[in-house]
Amino acid sequence: MNKIQDYQIISNVLLAKKTYEMTLTGDFSWVKNCGQFINISIDNKFLKRPISICDFSENELVIIYKVVGYGTDFLANLKVGDSINCLIDLGNGYNLDLVNDKCLLIGGGVGVPPLYSTCKKLVEKSVKVSVVLGFTSVSDMFYVDKFKELTSDVFVSTNDGTYGDKGFVTDVIVKNNLSGMDYLTCGPEVMLKGVHKLMTGHGQLSFEARMGCGFGACMGCSCKTVSGYKRICVEGPIMQSEDLLWND
Ligand SMILES: Cc1cc2nc3c(=O)[nH]c(=O)nc-3n(C[C@H](O)[C@H](O)[C@H](O)COP(=O)(O)OP(=O)(O)OC[C@H]3O[C@@H](n4cnc5c(N)ncnc54)[C@H](O)[C@@H]3O)c2cc1C
Ligand code: FES
Repeated sequence: MNKIQDYQIISNVLLAKKTYEMTLTGDFSWVKNCGQFINISIDNKFLKRPISICDFSENELVIIYKVVGYGTDFLANLKVGDSINCLIDLGNGYNLDLVNDKCLLIGGGVGVPPLYSTCKKLVEKSVKVSVVLGFTSVSDMFYVDKFKELTSDVFVSTNDGTYGDKGFVTDVIVKNNLSGMDYLTCGPEVMLKGVHKLMTGHGQLSFEARMGCGFGACMGCSCKTVSGYKRICVEGPIMQSEDLLWND
């Protein structure tokens, strides 16, 4: 059952270009799976803004967000000690029981955050994890060192070649012969589509589509699957690779 909850901010720091890491304190015992999200109330706006859970413990939760408009700018201007009001316990999350002894995590831009706690949990389960992270430019890059603390197999691409391989995550996957692996991914829809087309292993794909109501009423966030349209806010944000179809 989704609930509304206030959480106090204990840190809100700039990590990369227009990209902030916010840490909240409170009761987070409701978080069941990596890849779940919270929906944050924004002053003077009717629609809440969904942000993935990057990392969590019983009493702390970390989110990473990029300032792209009014809502994320509002978040960036909040101070330590301020509170945010959130709709909580949202999203199915990744099913880590489906992962065998090795897998590939593929993140693009602000799709990287939910893969961090996922990587931590998989390493705890002794899964051999490889990671491919894609950013626009080195100035947009974050958390690469934190992933490297968890696994030695971290590959990075930037669109402009200012760090790692020049190009897209799909270029890195091809170059390193990673396309046969089972994978968990999150990023912009165009990246998810490219990854889904390229990869031959089983995939769990997390969508960050623009949302309307956020609780299943408007169909504004739907994506096409073999069993009709599914709502990312209710049935997602994670979809299984065998279920997905794409609108051309
Ligand atoms: C399940 C889920 C998890 C998400 N997790 C994160 C996260 O961890 N970190 C993060 O930075 N963002 C995340 N997002 C995206 C985030 O919700 C949007 O960036 C945010 O709502 C924008 O709000 P705004 O008021 O700042 O921008 P607005 O003023 O509403 O829009 C500004 C511009 O951004 C575009 N835009 C808005 N939302 C999206 C979107 N979802 N996708 C693409 N373009 C968009 C608009 O079309 C417009 O051009 C997630 C989205 C979903 C659905
Ligand atoms: S945002 Fe309204 S149904 Fe998902």
